[in-house]
Amino acid sequence: MKLKKTLGLFMIFLSGMVIAQTNSNIPQVEELLSKMTLEEKIGQLNLLTPGGGVATGSVVSEDVEAKIKAGNVGGVFGVSSPEKVRQAQEIAVKSSRLGIPLLIGSDIIHGYKTTYPIPLGLSSSWDMDLMKEAAQLAAKEATADGINWNFSPMVDIARDPRWGRIAEGAGEDPYLGSQVAKAMVEGYQGEDLTAPNTMIATVKHMALYGAAEAGRDYNSVDMSRLKMFNEYLPPYQAAVDAGVASVMTSFNDIDGIPASGNKWLLTDLLRDRWGFGGFVVSDYTSVNEMIAHGMGDLQAVSAMAINAGLDMDMVGEGFLTTLKKSVDEGKVSEEQITKAARRILEAKHKLGLLDDPYLYSDESRPEKDILTKENRDFARKAATRSFVLLKKYNSTLPLAKNARIALVGPLANNKNNMLGTWAPTGDPSLSIPILQGLKNVAPDANINYAKGANISNDTSFAKKVNVFGPRIQINDESPDTLLKEALDLAENSDVIVAVVGEATEMSGEAASRTDITIPDSQKKLIRELANTGKPVVLVLMSGRPLDISEEMALPVSILQIWHPGVEAGNAVADVLFGDYNPSAKLTNSWPRNVGQIPIHYRMKTTGRPGPESGEFQKFKTNYLDSPNSPLLPFGFGLSYTTFEYSDVKANSSELGKTGAIELSATVTNTGDHDGEEIVQLYIHDKVRSITPPGKELKGFKKIMLKKGESKTVTFQLNAEDLKFYNSELKHVAEPGEFDFFIAGSSDSKFDGSFTLKE
Ligand code: BGC
Repeated sequence: MKLKKTLGLFMIFLSGMVIAQTNSNIPQVEELLSKMTLEEKIGQLNLLTPGGGVATGSVVSEDVEAKIKAGNVGGVFGVSSPEKVRQAQEIAVKSSRLGIPLLIGSDIIHGYKTTYPIPLGLSSSWDMDLMKEAAQLAAKEATADGINWNFSPMVDIARDPRWGRIAEGAGEDPYLGSQVAKAMVEGYQGEDLTAPNTMIATVKHMALYGAAEAGRDYNSVDMSRLKMFNEYLPPYQAAVDAGVASVMTSFNDIDGIPASGNKWLLTDLLRDRWGFGGFVVSDYTSVNEMIAHGMGDLQAVSAMAINAGLDMDMVGEGFLTTLKKSVDEGKVSEEQITKAARRILEAKHKLGLLDDPYLYSDESRPEKDILTKENRDFARKAATRSFVLLKKYNSTLPLAKNARIALVGPLANNKNNMLGTWAPTGDPSLSIPILQGLKNVAPDANINYAKGANISNDTSFAKKVNVFGPRIQINDESPDTLLKEALDLAENSDVIVAVVGEATEMSGEAASRTDITIPDSQKKLIRELANTGKPVVLVLMSGRPLDISEEMALPVSILQIWHPGVEAGNAVADVLFGDYNPSAKLTNSWPRNVGQIPIHYRMKTTGRPGPESGEFQKFKTNYLDSPNSPLLPFGFGLSYTTFEYSDVKANSSELGKTGAIELSATVTNTGDHDGEEIVQLYIHDKVRSITPPGKELKGFKKIMLKKGESKTVTFQLNAEDLKFYNSELKHVAEPGEFDFFIAGSSDSKFDGSFTLKE
């Protein structure tokens, strides 16, 4: 009896805690909520765009001003500059009944006006300080222009290079992806969101968007919970753990329910399991798109979304136009709407907007903070850290600063393709072409340029790519004339530098490809250049891993530069002339052919492991016509110098449930240049209650080594680091033996082991 009473009291206490949690305890927010009509609460859940950015859906909002005045808008995006943002806030503050300021959103994916390399390139630096700084500087620029809410970081794990949005993420690995997610959230949001140079970050796209079937953008996803928890969800969770203030849903379905209406995803997992306390915004019209998914009419899908835990409706206005009716008909509770409105108001409070709506409208800031020398210097440095040396042939690189250089290729003297996908706030005309950069860095070199080929000769393909500007320009001269010009130039030079690859919008949103080779027009040019017998450097630009099997077999050196951003030319020159020795490593496996896709290094061994020799063997998991291994493995990247690994060891053969084990290796610079190396630790859990990946990255460190220098690199692992999700989705570490290796790439062999004790 007594126990029952105590339990009862405890339950009352607990329910009090729940109430305390659902009320924000922010007097300003609660006071506003108490004054708001149902319509005004619904208004806060509405995000509009007057169409100033890249409109990625077909819809652009109308009558935005009238809607703000009527209290029907919680935020806008595609509006920038302190003046315009002040105007928008003034309309909200002075002309709507309750004067609630607006969230001002934007897509700042890799720099605001100072555009950095695409995110996939930045991730190749494996440098979390650099990524954090990139986010900090982007926040400084964007907030100077009035923006307080960023739709970044995109942390979707992607293992399918056909998918164009692979460019926007950090590659294939959940561990590395989680570190990147954390660094970027911390960079954007800083320590204090009320500081005028920080903004709310949005982790996107929750969830699994990178696993679209067949690499076709917006396609369905069907995935086991085990795969979700172990492979795809960790980066979103890492962003939540880092305190991200908002989450964006994805376009795809999960377990047959579109993400924007998926209660398991948005409430059970995100809020109840992960403890997310911020607000959830849909993707562009993704609520309305649930109609096409087959979930019912606009009223039904809007009710489904809010009941699932979605707080804000991007552009579609389904919430605005149907939620009141759903409340009247008992399909949505007012409580649900109040909860969502509270979350939006809390975000405005976090930003300091409820105290000062004009916090981000300081007209003196753009000049001081945007496109400054400091920012451009950073963009240049970040780009050099993102370039991956894929192949060294003879000692062509680095180039001499007085060389006679034939600079050829459709991307060699081009401003339109330097920024890369999702750079709507950047200005291509400010970017430094490669030709210009080479001249800047090596004024004594003799550099001559010829285009050599069009990016593609296919006019219908070019039309699809040129949606946001003239990315693929097809010359009037015949391809043969272009080629001849390049070959003539090559004849009178010491070395050929060919800048080839993908135009900006050949990757990115709605830019999936089934053929991920370099377009034929350029392939021909590359072949002919290689045939000249002159030293050739291919400078390869792309937003995705490409199939470069043919080019890897040619006698050429290859430097992968992604889309390098506004300082493209200068950064490329810094690396080609050896002022910076390349150190980046791939964050995706590069396939030999599209038939290997999806491909990644965490593949399971299966019960019939593929032969280690790579030779075909009947009744083993392998192909008749291709090795299993990728062309270039995850974690791979060369340097002008060479590194050797030795003395790989564990400080003990056993690890307890508490305490840590130290795994170390000695790395020596054995080549002729000072250089940086990204040292990587991988493990293999040999016996597990569910089939484990063949290898898992568990740590990495970037070190600088002078010529001849050695350093010992030590990683600490504890039982927590060895955890995975078991078949009950519990996060556990199971005792047993683990193999490990420490190396400069994922394709090394295991050379040590230890045991996790009971
Ligand atoms: C993209 C999002 C982006 C949004 C707003 C959508 O098409 O999927 O990543 O944040 O548009 O611009």
